[in-house]
Amino acid sequence: MRQLIAGNWKMNTVTAEAAALAQALRNGVPGCDVLVCPPATQLVAVAGILAGSPVAVGGQDCHWEAKGAHTGDISAPMLRDAGASWVILGHSERRANHAELDETVREKAVAAAAAGLAPIVCVGETDEQRSAGRETEVVGWQLAGSLPKDFAGVVAYEPIWAIGSGKSATEEDVETMHAFIRAELLRQFPETGAAMRILYGGSVKPSNAASLLALPDVGGALVGGASLVAQDFLAIARAARPG
Ligand code: 13P
Repeated sequence: MRQLIAGNWKMNTVTAEAAALAQALRNGVPGCDVLVCPPATQLVAVAGILAGSPVAVGGQDCHWEAKGAHTGDISAPMLRDAGASWVILGHSERRANHAELDETVREKAVAAAAAGLAPIVCVGETDEQRSAGRETEVVGWQLAGSLPKDFAGVVAYEPIWAIGSGKSATEEDVETMHAFIRAELLRQFPETGAAMRILYGGSVKPSNAASLLALPDVGGALVGGASLVAQDFLAIARAARPG
């Protein structure tokens, strides 16, 4: 399975920074799929710079409706129109800061697919939930609630305690959780679950990328902080398993 290395720029970059970063990534990295998800205000510019390059562009969220009275929101067709082909949904920062429920994420995934966007649905437990031994239970509920019945996208496992902390999950944690997610995907999608990519996210950096990306059932990485530094993001992409 070809790995996907996705950069989530979160709420970072003004135009000059976004343009410089996109320019530096234009050639991509052979052997893996590369995606960047800039803030919505940078989408058109970044998509323009990356047009014709192997690097795809995505949004960081979308509304569940195609248009209407939703001040401040952005719809999936708008992202598509701006040059996106992917969208991140249900990131833990959105679940926490915007009270997004599994059901909301599921409706967004339906809207994304209808607009021709490939969704990356994020799941992951808090530190407290892991300490209580509830991590698979929590992720199981998130998968059951967030993925629509005809889901055809990517799942990203991002343990919340590993995001932005500099401390990634251990190889053992990642292997165990990805095996659990694979089993859940096969249960929910008996025909297609085997081929769905499962990304790991949470403090992925050049120094740990190769070991994380070598693990079984890791279909790529969702990278936050390190995706804002072109040479770090490219180093992570170069660590992808050839395939
Ligand atoms: P960091 O790579 O900064 O830990 O962020 C991970 C993340 O949230 C990507 O969506």
